[in-house]
Amino acid sequence: MSEVVIPRINGERLWHSLQQLGEIGADSSGGVTRLSLSEEELGARQFIVRLMKDAGLDVRQDEAGNLIGRLEGDGAVQGAVVTGSHIDSVIQAGRFDGPLGVVSGIEALRTIKEQGIRHERPLEVICFTDEEGVRFGAGYFGSRAMAGDWDEAWLELTDFSGITLKEAMERADLKPHKASLAARSREEIKAYVELHIEQGRVLEDRELSVGIATAIYGHRWLEVRLRGRADHAGTTPMKLRRDPLAAAAEAMLAAEQIALQADGVATVGTLQISPGAINVIPGEVLFTVDVRHERLDSLHEMEQAIEAGIARVAGERGLEASIRVIDGADPVQSASPIMDAIGRGCKALEIQEHRMVCGAGHDAVAMNELADIGLILVRSRDGISHHPQEWSSPEDCEAGANVLLYTLIRLSNDIT
Ligand code: HGY
Ligand code: MN
Ligand code: MN
Repeated sequence: MSEVVIPRINGERLWHSLQQLGEIGADSSGGVTRLSLSEEELGARQFIVRLMKDAGLDVRQDEAGNLIGRLEGDGAVQGAVVTGSHIDSVIQAGRFDGPLGVVSGIEALRTIKEQGIRHERPLEVICFTDEEGVRFGAGYFGSRAMAGDWDEAWLELTDFSGITLKEAMERADLKPHKASLAARSREEIKAYVELHIEQGRVLEDRELSVGIATAIYGHRWLEVRLRGRADHAGTTPMKLRRDPLAAAAEAMLAAEQIALQADGVATVGTLQISPGAINVIPGEVLFTVDVRHERLDSLHEMEQAIEAGIARVAGERGLEASIRVIDGADPVQSASPIMDAIGRGCKALEIQEHRMVCGAGHDAVAMNELADIGLILVRSRDGISHHPQEWSSPEDCEAGANVLLYTLIRLSNDIT
């Protein structure tokens, strides 16, 4: 089997596009806030469409709002080799989480087209709708729709200002009730390979630029409502209180202990208190718990233990408690042939190969329902992410994109 020539992407062009995209939705924190289907993200979508067209790709938007750039294959082989990621962000995010995968995918396909590199299979780069789930409380909307897992109930989810996903989609000139038509078949997609920043410290601690994810943690997002009785902060004796915030504090510390013991992670990232006045004992609190583990059985055990802890604390304090699972996905494994192809790319590019589990969620989790997946990780400085100081070096971004390019060429010619 002829060895693949080692082409390389245009690193300067990649870095320049990343910086340009990073200006769209730049906020006062020095980071980026580009929530799904917001004005900022719609502006970023236009930038991505232009970048895809400049790369000479056929560009379309599917019914779920996914932007798809495609190069037809040189052979008559069905089953595209697909890469992609997202450009929606969390609040006060960095510039790399998501955009590195989208921009590198466009750069890889542009290089293949410019250099006339043979690829039997069609190649696609996809910019998925709402990977993060921060605005509406559930994520992977675009990749789940493409994988055939769209849930009409999501249309009624609301953001912080009460706008529903349905309204946000209509404002983006999408037809919400057609989103499920974005579903594709297994025959259409042969493999999915995503490039993403690591968002952790493993590569930095080992002084490595690129990693290969063997698996991706599963997650459950719990929404917890505790109801007690608002009362006067000065005249209500401690023993007579039904204070849901004190209960929430106890439950959060219990969740922290459960995660430590299970070697998983649990995070309370949002907390709303009502009525929220300095001299009023809270009447109600609403908070979320992000629970994750590499193993499904441990994830279930953690979820059950955290829910039991909340119920116990609420019972002891005479509170009403309601717990809803508002989002979740099981852990997924990368496919060996794709990991091997990525590994050969590392070897050919003289980059040390390092296989590792990934604690962050990605569209690859949803796409795993549709095709074999692989995930290439790029070193994050100090492991920082979901933060304005998230940063990866131009050299590491270029290394990751070259490994992606190599992997796409091999997979699209069925060379593993
Ligand atoms: O939450 C995550 O792991 C990803 O950033 N969506
Ligand atoms: Mn993220
Ligand atoms: Mn991401």
